[in-house]
Amino acid sequence: MELITNLVKNFKKEFTKENNTPAEVFFAPGRVNLIGEHIDYNGGKVFPCALDFGTYAVVSKRDDKTFRVYSENFKNLGIIEFSLDSLIYDKKDDWANYPKGVIKTFLDAGFNINSGFDVLYFGNIPNGAGLSSSASIEVLTSVILKDLFKLDINMVEMVKLSQKTENEFIGVNCGIMDQFSIGMGKKDNAILLDCNTLDYSYAPFILKDASIVIANTNKRRGLGESKYNERRASCESALEDLKNSGLKISSLCDMNMKIFEENKHLIKSEEAIPRVKHAVSENERVLKAMECLNNGDINTFGELMNSSHTSLKDDYEVTGFELDSLVEAAWEEQGTIGSRMTGAGFGGCTVSLVKNEYIETFIKNVGKKYKEKTGLEAAFYIGNPGDGARKLGDF
Ligand code: GLA
Repeated sequence: MELITNLVKNFKKEFTKENNTPAEVFFAPGRVNLIGEHIDYNGGKVFPCALDFGTYAVVSKRDDKTFRVYSENFKNLGIIEFSLDSLIYDKKDDWANYPKGVIKTFLDAGFNINSGFDVLYFGNIPNGAGLSSSASIEVLTSVILKDLFKLDINMVEMVKLSQKTENEFIGVNCGIMDQFSIGMGKKDNAILLDCNTLDYSYAPFILKDASIVIANTNKRRGLGESKYNERRASCESALEDLKNSGLKISSLCDMNMKIFEENKHLIKSEEAIPRVKHAVSENERVLKAMECLNNGDINTFGELMNSSHTSLKDDYEVTGFELDSLVEAAWEEQGTIGSRMTGAGFGGCTVSLVKNEYIETFIKNVGKKYKEKTGLEAAFYIGNPGDGARKLGDF
């Protein structure tokens, strides 16, 4: 509550508002993916959860067509202004392209947005760490638009428009997992999402004597976005090769490992073959992981997380020295049930399941080994599954 009171105070100060100006407060979480990596755009199943930390927004509607946006995370950039009549991607607007893009996408989809607003954002998700700080701003802005302009739209549609913004306005060809888990998250639950059909179900994820520990490599992703698009493009061309040769599939994850092995020679690019192997094997791991969860077999779930990492390292090649060092250090700890990179990779975070009684030594030892190897300081967070994006109230 103190956090919100402070944000409202800062909002009024930054935008020189009277103290009695009504302000509305919204929240969207970050997300962590437990298993099912780089397969949301290959028609696979993923198993993420929303977190109990994320992005807050304090908003007040304006009478004119101006949007003034400010982020406490990028104070040096000050207030960034743009108009409803000119919603164009502009590099110098930096992070503000996310809300700008969402507004543009909603307008293009035919929603009636007829004025601007002032908004202050504050996120306690580490930026660029693979916990979806950008999808969090996108879904948050969608929720703000729905509320301020009384739009007739449900959460899944908002999730889709947020993903469209990332794909078309920002230029990152991401799948739907991040925006979906941020919009549809539920406290104490992870979401099993079929990215082909968008069918989903919630699975309680409160472990009796263990916790989700997220570790940030503190390595910026750098070229991650272009490599992400590259991976996706190579999966798409492999799918085309397979379909053109007569295989009746609509996405790579329609195959199981047996079908993949029988048909891999049809993929023209040598480099794409291990990429496809990852997609198919990862989807099989998610299905097995679900069985384990249903049977209360958390240890095998952990082993599947470990093999997911190995596949992302050797076949999909999206890990790198920092993520590998952090995961390998985690694997050596007595209390670790499983550990893997999470999100897009190329830096960012790992996710581990760690027995509660060992968390302290886990953080100490993994942090120490990681520092010795990479010279970087890791940061650790406990990942509690939280609720999805929502309005918090009027203040
Ligand atoms: C990023 C993308 C997601 C997903 C993951 C990898 O987070 O935004 O759509 O592809 O990478 O699983």
